[in-house]
Amino acid sequence: MINVGIMGLGTVGTGVVELLETNRSTIARRLGDEVEVKKILVRDLSKKRTPYAEGKLTTRADDILEDGEIDVVVELMGGEEPARTYIKKALENKKHVVTANKEVISKHGKELLELAERSGVSLLFEASVGGGIPIIRPMKQCLAANRIMKISGILNGTTNYILTQMREKGWSFGEALREAQRLGYAESDPSADIKGFDAARKLAILSSIGFNARITPDRVYVEGIERIGPEDIKYAGELGYTIKLLASARRTGEGRVEAVVAPAMLKENHPLSAVRDVYNAILVEGDAVGQVMFYGQGAGKMPTASAVVADIIDAARGGKRIYCTCYGEVEVVPASLMTSRFYVRLKAEDNPEALAEICGALGRNGIGLEMAAQKGVGGGLVEIVMLTLWVPFGDLQRALNEIKNLKGVKEVANIIRVEEADEDGLHGGHR
Ligand code: NAP
Ligand code: HSE
Repeated sequence: MINVGIMGLGTVGTGVVELLETNRSTIARRLGDEVEVKKILVRDLSKKRTPYAEGKLTTRADDILEDGEIDVVVELMGGEEPARTYIKKALENKKHVVTANKEVISKHGKELLELAERSGVSLLFEASVGGGIPIIRPMKQCLAANRIMKISGILNGTTNYILTQMREKGWSFGEALREAQRLGYAESDPSADIKGFDAARKLAILSSIGFNARITPDRVYVEGIERIGPEDIKYAGELGYTIKLLASARRTGEGRVEAVVAPAMLKENHPLSAVRDVYNAILVEGDAVGQVMFYGQGAGKMPTASAVVADIIDAARGGKRIYCTCYGEVEVVPASLMTSRFYVRLKAEDNPEALAEICGALGRNGIGLEMAAQKGVGGGLVEIVMLTLWVPFGDLQRALNEIKNLKGVKEVANIIRVEEADEDGLHGGHR
């Protein structure tokens, strides 16, 4: 019998308890042993819970961490603390740990994996990236023969759901967010989703594995989707693009890596532009395998529970474990030096002088344009939509700082990266 202690019985914890029960006999046959949930940690004993949790609830973490009969601790509370302290204590007490906590793993994964190695137990975190999509184990095992060159993908279900509903159903940002929360996709503080921090944590985890060096979330350049308005979605559509929150990391040579999470406009032939709703997709490029794509539901109760329960089975099965794979060091390229094409939306006075001044500021800063179009707004104002050529982000920022102080300019409303598919139809990334 494998005894499990679960810390957290929210969206994912409930899914895990129910999946272990509904697929009990299948799991037992596959593992060759029964898995039993012995105790479950919650904050509030008065909440209504799944019937499978009856008689197992506690509000004392040590009831799990100090229980000598518990073999596997499953941390599903979220947040940095006390989750990190509990994981540490479980590992020190020689219990396997399974977690879906990208915040803890992206910030403290190295120390915790080293602790797990010293204790001779597993620390598994498949559900921390891509919900139900197998990606951590494939990257650590199936792609282990490759030098990973590039990782790019849609890594946040909530924001992909919001952008899809805004584009396809014309929902407001607030409406779409409320529905994502109701469906259990969003973090308890949804600003982590909306501001891009959740995707940055996931990109940090994948980059650390892929580039064999420790890349923490604070080294990832992050922008969220909070500035994306219905106008951007409309203009992007008119130009043949879809807006996605894209997470990309790639080697640039000389031991350097670019790591960015930001909204991006993807052409309709881009493989990630078709990834809708809560679905996530991750493209990984290895020097031997070429490009491989992983796709599935990136958040939600049962998809995430699927990844967590697989880790419980793996931990219980034992065998030789893979610990920290951050053997080397990499330098991360500052965002100002990263080159891309950009979409820019401005609000300006409807007169030729304002337009001439904007063009002057762009020219002085070396920003070439592929196209510019004027859209009517009314009240003597126009909206100017531009697509730049490939330019360094820092040069564009300098130009826009000048532009926003021009007399005839009301607002620099948005800047969005423009991504093209490679000739072979896969993600082009930054250049
Ligand atoms: P959630 O619905 O907010 O549930 C959190 C649970 O943890 C609740 O049962 C809560 O207890 C308990 N909890 C929180 N802090 C606690 C504390 N200090 N002491 C005791 N219990 C505590 O969260 P979730 O959506 O299931 O997410 C859990 C983890 O999985 C997070 O790390 C999240 O990032 C990750 N994740 C979530 C998804 C998803 O789709 N939701 C997908 C992948 C990964 P009460 O019930 O008593 O309040
Ligand atoms: N809040 C996260 C998301 C949960 O929406 O992707 C899955 O990690």
